[in-house]
Amino acid sequence: MESTIQDIFNKPKTLLEEIASVEINDAGSLEQFRIRFLGTKNILKPLFGEIRNVPNERKKEYGQLLNEVKQAAEAKFNDLQSTFQQKEGEKADDIDVTAPGIPMPLGARHPINLVRNKIIEIFNKLGFTVTYDREIEDDWHNFTALNMPEDHTARDMQDTFFIQTNPDVVLRTHTSSVQVRVMESQEPPIRILSPGRVYRNETISARAHCFFHQVEGLYIDKDVSFGDLKQTLFFFAQEMFGPDTQIKLRPSYFPFTEPSAEVDVSCFICNSKGCNVCKYTGWVEILGCGMVDPAVLENCGIDSNVYSGYAFGMGVERIAMLKYQINDIRLLSENDIRFLSQFKGA
Ligand code: DAH
Repeated sequence: MESTIQDIFNKPKTLLEEIASVEINDAGSLEQFRIRFLGTKNILKPLFGEIRNVPNERKKEYGQLLNEVKQAAEAKFNDLQSTFQQKEGEKADDIDVTAPGIPMPLGARHPINLVRNKIIEIFNKLGFTVTYDREIEDDWHNFTALNMPEDHTARDMQDTFFIQTNPDVVLRTHTSSVQVRVMESQEPPIRILSPGRVYRNETISARAHCFFHQVEGLYIDKDVSFGDLKQTLFFFAQEMFGPDTQIKLRPSYFPFTEPSAEVDVSCFICNSKGCNVCKYTGWVEILGCGMVDPAVLENCGIDSNVYSGYAFGMGVERIAMLKYQINDIRLLSENDIRFLSQFKGA
């Protein structure tokens, strides 16, 4: 149906009234207004198209009317926009830039990580690289290949968690299992450090836990001697506990090393004068070590006539407890923030 001239002229007039009376109280409504009157698909566009239906003598009048609408919309928009901007500015003025900021508490590193990272850093300097391996092991890698056949009494030293009822699947009792995996899969020279979690079926107390962390070290090459082992551990002890630290090797027994030793360091708490950390002996035990037993090399496919090597294993909790004088191992796995936050910057 053709619009009458009256209709055509009425539309912009209604819009003018709308512009004059519309209530805009927030930036969202102002944007709606802008889209309706000033956007690319604004409401005036089709009205401009109507000009062809207006008789010639009134075209000018109609055009002026539309321009009036457009100008009114622009004026209203600009006016409201600056009002809103001003309000935002006033809000910003409310911010007290001299007020103290919201504090961001600094995290702390876990003492187990601190010690493990330090051990890795020290042995990195000697060319040891880090190898991780699985915590669920088979009997071969955790025991048999390490010279502990099924009925070997040494298995009793490490109360084992078995997975379900399958005696072949265990939670590893030590990181020495990684030695076997590495020797089976790599050609010497081998120089690795293997940190990780281990599990033993122990009653939890201040001194023992059913899971803890170890770092295993292994060096296999031609002509590796006990002297190399001793010098390496001496370097480690001084880097870890201070330049005046002395070490002492006591003969010991491990099924996978021959000869075997336990290493004590001079007590860095009391300077060997005697305290309850060293139980008034002046020495504290930190690790087990030895020359890899030729039978272990052979089990892993390494010719024991050509190669020799040393291995060592240390408990991370034990070293952390000594270093930070922590008297209960349970603190290291309880995640009490009051305890852990003390290691900020340690
Ligand atoms: N696996 C031993 C343990 O858990 C520690 C150990 C001792 C590792 C002597 C070694 C070693 O590599 O040579 O008690």
